[in-house]
Amino acid sequence: MPTRSIIEPFRIKSVEPIRMTTRLEREHFLEDAGYNPFLLRAENVLIDLLTDSGTGAMSAEQWAAIMRGDESYAGATSYYRFAEAVKGIFGFRYVLPTHQGRAAERILFTTVCKPGDIVPNNTHFDTTRANIEYVGAQAIDLPIAEGLQPELLHPFKGNMDVDALEALIADVGAERIPLVMLTITNNSGGGQPVSMANVKAVSSVCKRHGLPLYIDACRFAENAWFIREREMGYAQMSARDIARELFSYADGCTMSAKKDGLVNIGGFLATNDEGLSRQESRLLVLTEGFPTYGGLAGRDLEAIAVGLNEVLDEDYLRYRIASTAYLGRHLSDIGIPIVQPPGGHAIYIDAAAMLPHIPPEMFPGQALVGEMYLEGGVRAVEIGTVMFGSTNAETGEIRTAALELVRLAIPRRVYTQSHIDYVCEVMSDVFAGRKRIGGLRMVWQDPPLRHFTARFAPAR
Ligand code: F0G
Repeated sequence: MPTRSIIEPFRIKSVEPIRMTTRLEREHFLEDAGYNPFLLRAENVLIDLLTDSGTGAMSAEQWAAIMRGDESYAGATSYYRFAEAVKGIFGFRYVLPTHQGRAAERILFTTVCKPGDIVPNNTHFDTTRANIEYVGAQAIDLPIAEGLQPELLHPFKGNMDVDALEALIADVGAERIPLVMLTITNNSGGGQPVSMANVKAVSSVCKRHGLPLYIDACRFAENAWFIREREMGYAQMSARDIARELFSYADGCTMSAKKDGLVNIGGFLATNDEGLSRQESRLLVLTEGFPTYGGLAGRDLEAIAVGLNEVLDEDYLRYRIASTAYLGRHLSDIGIPIVQPPGGHAIYIDAAAMLPHIPPEMFPGQALVGEMYLEGGVRAVEIGTVMFGSTNAETGEIRTAALELVRLAIPRRVYTQSHIDYVCEVMSDVFAGRKRIGGLRMVWQDPPLRHFTARFAPAR
């Protein structure tokens, strides 16, 4: 067989126009938005790489399932179809639907954590960390050292540092740790995968100390594909079987179905512990709804049931990972420094390395994101000092983040290769003019999640 291009394994049945704007218009829009792309109107964005969360396209089968949605308040058929799909892949006995991932996080941590507790993770996503801190517990990141070096190649940069986990348990005592978490793929660490060997090693440490292991499963299918491609012994296994094995080492999971559930809204919280699930469902009723719908419509549950199975399709995953790598390869070829190797759902540009003339206190990532919008109407997100740093309210002193990254997240099944080629052309022009890009100062902020609403002005 000749080697052929990896193509989009779908054809398009319904289209949504995207709008070209002029540079002059974009200058006005960006200024009105305080140089923060979160504050732009989406209709003024041409290619939207802000997030891969809830921005994917559903399949004809999912839309068909939506028509089958059973909207009964209790015991809907759609719930049973959803629960069966989740159990078939994840294997956990008890599953509660939630309106999205952070709702599952809130219910889990409110139930298992008390003030003073400690939750280790390879790297917490920001809502996970915020929900842990909200109940007075502490979120600790334990990535492997390789995970913190953007240009370094390593097949599983998302792994947890198992020795650091052992040391932490020895240091604080297992009684203060209600659970250990692994985020697959590691979003805040560059969309990098976790190996099966690492999951097994973390699981065995947890078992030895009697600690439950939870998986933040948002991008579980992408992680399964990386295991198949990169880890010895998995090349012949289906993504479904890899996922089943991976979850068999865990005691429960939180899930934002807005990623690898291939839907626009939804999530769930799963466990093998009956008593815990009963406690969680009491809380679920308070804010989400009855346990068989959990804040979702019956039709949403149907779409998730179909999406969870579609996402494990081999052709889909091969295309998905190849298309992210395609963007990464082209940006690298231009000379743009990116986190290597490319992750599953996004490419992360090292803005500090690309714009060394802009100090972290002048937000190089935010400056780059603004320039990408001005140059070609492309929207991305800063993951650096705006998102993770802080400003001392009295002294004005800025605490900077460890890395100044810009994330180009790729929505699932939405953009074609020529859209991505266009993004590369825009980035090539941005790169050519990089020395002219100026820094920013923050003129308004509302911590702790200041990146959503902060406003900026040119620093000069
Ligand atoms: N965990 C991870 C690893 C995530 O990436 C996200 C969301 C969540 C939990 C929360 O899920 O949004 O459904 O409440 N990440 C999105 C992003 C927002 O852009 O990366 P949610």
